[in-house]
Amino acid sequence: MNTATIKFEAFEGLQNDECQKRILDAKKILGKKIIILGHHYQNESVYKHSDLTGDSLKLAKYVSNLEAKYIIFLGVHFMAEVANILGRANQITVLPDLAAGCSMADMANLTKVERTFRELSKVMNFDEKITPITYINSAADLKAFCGEHGGVVCTSTNAPKILEWAFKQREKVLFFPDQNLGRWTGYKMGVSLEEMPVWDPDLPLGGLDEKTIKDAKILLWKGHCAVHQMFRLQHINLFKEKHPDGMIISHPEAPFEVCKNSDFVGSTEFILNTIKEAKPNTKWLVGTELNLVNRLAKEMRPEGKLVQFMSHVVCECSTMARIDPQHLAWTLENIIDDKPVNIIKVPEREAKLAKLSLDRMLQIS
Ligand code: 13P
Ligand code: SF4
Repeated sequence: MNTATIKFEAFEGLQNDECQKRILDAKKILGKKIIILGHHYQNESVYKHSDLTGDSLKLAKYVSNLEAKYIIFLGVHFMAEVANILGRANQITVLPDLAAGCSMADMANLTKVERTFRELSKVMNFDEKITPITYINSAADLKAFCGEHGGVVCTSTNAPKILEWAFKQREKVLFFPDQNLGRWTGYKMGVSLEEMPVWDPDLPLGGLDEKTIKDAKILLWKGHCAVHQMFRLQHINLFKEKHPDGMIISHPEAPFEVCKNSDFVGSTEFILNTIKEAKPNTKWLVGTELNLVNRLAKEMRPEGKLVQFMSHVVCECSTMARIDPQHLAWTLENIIDDKPVNIIKVPEREAKLAKLSLDRMLQIS
């Protein structure tokens, strides 16, 4: 009997067409034993195999009600961790390529957040004054930190509700790792830019003085998404010159000036729904990842809608793109052999605390 798992090398050189066929065959054999969840940034070559698609919040909500033994996550590492934390105890979460991380999530880690906790505790009692909020784009141990310190997780969809809740608990918020989402959400709630200084975790006291910290309402972690950071106000101005009746829609991870000059700002699901529900022949400039925009542009063409990507350079989430047909076919065929590879399992204590902050989020939103 062969007890070894199939090595990825056996799939590395396969043509996409061959992989597509093997994915479809594997899905047929596995049936209800697996469910494939796909984030909107995935390339069409794997996205089309998703049983359910969504933004981070929608995908997290789905997970609580899934019967399948295996959850195959077409997304990035933190999303698969959330699936493992919120899924049933005997469910197995698989990420087809373990290198599919999120570069923004990597901009905060537990060592730096705990150091921040100690530094801020010199100025005030952290647990009395500050609610830590982590964007769902973060490692499970940071969600656990929030669970332990009365904090919560947020997504691009529910950030306003979560901030409102946080200010009912304590007077300040430490928001990590995405400064852009924190700033935009705070601004829309009426918090001034001066009350939202940037906390640089690599500098003593975040690079701030005590007065600035005491006057702050939201301390914004110095982190951002490299993909969304590419969008510029000048892209919007150029589009408006050419299409004065055109609409601008952006993800809140985009820079503040871009969000401020957009007609709509919201999650990936919000962007898709807004454009799909818009009138025929409307024109849209979209400030989010390229795979989503390309797919939407193609889908909307028959309705005469123009859907244009915001930047002139390619802004693809290169880590998300690591989930390709070769990796998907490989993981599925190993499951057929009952030898799953690339299992995402959050350590028990960490998962318990992280679940606290995720459950708080799901209750609030
Ligand atoms: P959404 O939750 O809006 O899908 O965003 C996830 C993400 O990583 C955007 O870069
Ligand atoms: Fe992370 Fe940015 Fe990719 Fe979203 S687009 S998963 S924030 S690197």
